[in-house]
Amino acid sequence: MPNNKHKIAVLPGDGIGEEVTTQAVKVLNAVASQENISIELNKACVGGTAYDQTSNPLPKETLELTKKSDAVLLGAVGGQKWESLDFSLRPERALLGLRKELGLFANLRPALVFDELIAASTLKEEVIKKVDLMVVRELTGGIYFGTPRGVSSKKESRTATNTLVYNEDEIKRIAKVAFEVAQKRKSKVCSVDKANVLETTELWRTIVNEVHKDYQDVELSHMYVDNAAMQLIRNPRQFDVIVTTNMFGDILSDEAAMLTGSLGMLPSASINESHIGLYEPVHGSAPDIAGQDKANPLATILSLAMMFAYSFDNKIAANRIEKAVRTTLSQDYRTADIYTNGMTEVGCEEMGNKVVENL
Ligand code: IPM
Ligand code: MG
Repeated sequence: MPNNKHKIAVLPGDGIGEEVTTQAVKVLNAVASQENISIELNKACVGGTAYDQTSNPLPKETLELTKKSDAVLLGAVGGQKWESLDFSLRPERALLGLRKELGLFANLRPALVFDELIAASTLKEEVIKKVDLMVVRELTGGIYFGTPRGVSSKKESRTATNTLVYNEDEIKRIAKVAFEVAQKRKSKVCSVDKANVLETTELWRTIVNEVHKDYQDVELSHMYVDNAAMQLIRNPRQFDVIVTTNMFGDILSDEAAMLTGSLGMLPSASINESHIGLYEPVHGSAPDIAGQDKANPLATILSLAMMFAYSFDNKIAANRIEKAVRTTLSQDYRTADIYTNGMTEVGCEEMGNKVVENL
């Protein structure tokens, strides 16, 4: 039985974050009342907005709130305004901080091509039709967090270092997530590494093979990252679940996202061992269109569906949200980013209203 009381932290962040989370919260409240779920929503600041208010992109109060919550809904962080700040104060540090502090080691990024939106992709219809894949990216280890790191202070011939490090437990737990996700999909995992060059990913491959022994119903293959980058464009339908390291996952998930042609449609989930998760759209803060009611709220609304599926184990509510999004698209409503000839262009708020009507 799904647990029916959920505490959710809402962190709108920067740029269009505020608008898109407002629409998602509207959908959340509507679903909650339909499904008789009680929710407690608490809002807090994060990113550049938080820096402006508190000189810290991830204020202590925000972090504490997220630690007391069952799930976090995040809009977006970042913007030109904060780009000249010191590395440690940039809005992006808030994301990395949340990932590490909440132990969100598994990042799930589905790339689903909606039939209605095929024309929005830069790739040919025959290549991307029916693409439905999931990138499972390791999110709290690898070169993003490895030490030693930094720029040496020697004046002559400055040297910078980052460290690509994984231990077997980190690899085991992400491999398990990938196999379990695959069992609920098409039961195929492709593990992406650079085992021909990097020892760290040679261990990665060994451990993934070991974990696979417990998941014999899932088909496992391995691919070098350069080949994977090519295969994603050449024949993306060959993939079901792709599991990979933090940095390879960062790169390949953006590539996978572009298959769909519409970054404005892509949700993501970052979860830890107790399935507490952070849910956010893959798109950024888009400061150029912020506050103009032009943003596409669907990625954030679909992130909410992932929240119900992965953190609250409530497939009914998740399906209800996904279906409402599909219905809205089939009724030809489009925000500017996914608009094509003959469709009805709507703003962020109206798109949110349509989804609520279709729930
Ligand atoms: C992402 C982003 C982040 C990352 C940045 C903003 C730190 O690109 O979530 O993919 O590199 O992980
Ligand atoms: Mg990225």
